[in-house]
Amino acid sequence: MDGSRIDDFEAPLTVRVARTMDDVQKIAVVRALVYMREQACPYEEEFDGNDLAGATHLIAEAGAEPLGCLRLRWFNGFAKVERVCVREGHRSGKVAKGLMAEAVEVIRRKGYTRFIGQVQAHLVPYWKRYGFIHRSERGVFVFSDRAYAEMEAIYDAHPDALTADTDPLVLDRPEGEWDSPGPLDRSAERGACPAQYRDRNGSPVPKPAQNAPAHKKVTAS
Ligand SMILES: CC(C)(COP(=O)(O)OP(=O)(O)OC[C@H]1O[C@@H](n2cnc3c(N)ncnc32)[C@H](O)[C@@H]1OP(=O)(O)O)[C@@H](O)C(=O)NCCC(=O)NCCS
Repeated sequence: MDGSRIDDFEAPLTVRVARTMDDVQKIAVVRALVYMREQACPYEEEFDGNDLAGATHLIAEAGAEPLGCLRLRWFNGFAKVERVCVREGHRSGKVAKGLMAEAVEVIRRKGYTRFIGQVQAHLVPYWKRYGFIHRSERGVFVFSDRAYAEMEAIYDAHPDALTADTDPLVLDRPEGEWDSPGPLDRSAERGACPAQYRDRNGSPVPKPAQNAPAHKKVTAS
């Protein structure tokens, strides 16, 4: 492996939600290579305090080798795509397309239909290829030594979008893996711990009825 093109890697491309500290480390490496080295972005502007505060990261890999990543942040009624980057030598191919396709699927599955991005002004035509429109009325703004424009895309609601009425254990699955059983689905096979049905003194307390609502509605007084 000489690291020059994705086709040189034996493993196929995968794009998924980042979940582990190892994933976070790989993302930091890719962003350091692209933004800090190629674009001379200072560390504290690249790692701006928003990476671990409610963001979802997607990582593109060939096997264990990280090739690209992006960050999604969630606001009331819209999601924001940020920090899209692909390592030099792996561009003009399926990495960026795979990241964007997965980003659109994740945001629609989470019930969002509105997607915005602040993009480097010279890349406006590039983002239009993904169905974004240029919010020209928002003008051009500058940060980290670069001029940015705002783009927006509106998608149809996902037919399987998650809602407050989605099965509780589906909502508990790992982000982006909502269609396969997760660790908590598997844990349900163990049943509830008998100790849960004993009070502090060790006396049995009644189990909830099988079809009882999971929680009581609380009314504000
Ligand atoms: C943006 C990025 C993720 C796109 O990756 P990609 O889809 O693999 O595509 P490419 O790098 O081949 O670029 C796609 C197109 O954008 C154009 N483009 C990319 N960078 C450009 C730049 N600095 N100036 C002008 N055009 C640029 C390319 O010329 C190409 O156009 P073409 O398809 O007509 O040849 C990748 O270029 C990247 O990681 N860039 C550095 C990080 C960055 O700037 N991210 C965007 C922040 S808004």
